Amino acid sequence: MSRVIVIGSYVQDHCWSAEALPAPGESRIGQFSTGPGGKGFNQAVAANRLGASTRFVGALGRDPLGDTARSFAAGEQLDCAWFETDSPTAASSIVVDAQGRNQICVALGANDALPAGAASAATEGIARGDILVAQLETALTPIQQALDAARAAGALTLLNPAPINPGLNQALIAASDLITPNETEFMFLLRHLLGEQQPLDPITADDQALHQRCRQLSNGTVVITLGGDGAFVSHAEDVLRGDVRNCYRVPAAAVEVIDTTGAGDAFSGALAAALALHPDAPFADLVGFACRAAGLSTERPGTAPSMATPADLRARFGDGGLL
Ligand code: RIB
Repeated sequence: MSRVIVIGSYVQDHCWSAEALPAPGESRIGQFSTGPGGKGFNQAVAANRLGASTRFVGALGRDPLGDTARSFAAGEQLDCAWFETDSPTAASSIVVDAQGRNQICVALGANDALPAGAASAATEGIARGDILVAQLETALTPIQQALDAARAAGALTLLNPAPINPGLNQALIAASDLITPNETEFMFLLRHLLGEQQPLDPITADDQALHQRCRQLSNGTVVITLGGDGAFVSHAEDVLRGDVRNCYRVPAAAVEVIDTTGAGDAFSGALAAALALHPDAPFADLVGFACRAAGLSTERPGTAPSMATPADLRARFGDGGLL
């Protein structure tokens, strides 16, 4: 079976829910909870819970938060290669408002010290058909190395270009067969890599204009996640991944949102799992599946713990919940 290997961040999330997001200078009363997160770890948990053979490669500090990460991963039966660093385990501050919208600030901590050896741990034995998943929430050198090595081995490479990271460059995009920015990350890519002063808003943009921008950005498939507006897909003309159209929109699942934090990770993890488990299915079906997995995650609080299993999807969406 094809495997999903995720190289990326672990973060201990500290979450506050409040009626509204605090304005600058404002203090608000809210409820507190804490749990495992980090874009890379969330994506690995999402893929693993959906039944893909999954490995996570990341960094921790030598501290109690690192122990929490290890024990959560063990409970998930998630295969992990952890690199211990002298920096503390990463931590975030997340505020979620009554509409489920969030504000996140993350201290990268150990993620910023992810060593070059992590790329080797992620790509050792990687083969054609496997999927290497990466993000931008760690030091970027091992991410580039892992993408390049996975590509050279014939594996599929998926980059979730999040969070917005000024260190992002064209080489990272060029090494990726698929990228999955959300709308703000996509607009950042247009500004940062194409120099657009007033980037297109992918929610309101004309499909052909958006497709043309995607083609300028990447030689691979671009999937822009649009929250409640679903997703936009743009393929290179010669690699349609089983689709008949080179660009199209996929609607979001109808859900009762309480917390959107980690929904993009649910999407990327589910898309990777679907690619591993159903490599011959039309890509549009895989994106629809990932939209449902992401939607379901927004009906639950937290990040890694909010990821769906196939049984959850079946119970929530009926037979249509699965591929
Ligand atoms: O994408 C959500 C994640 O981003 C959270 O788990 C938080 O850790 C931040 O890194």
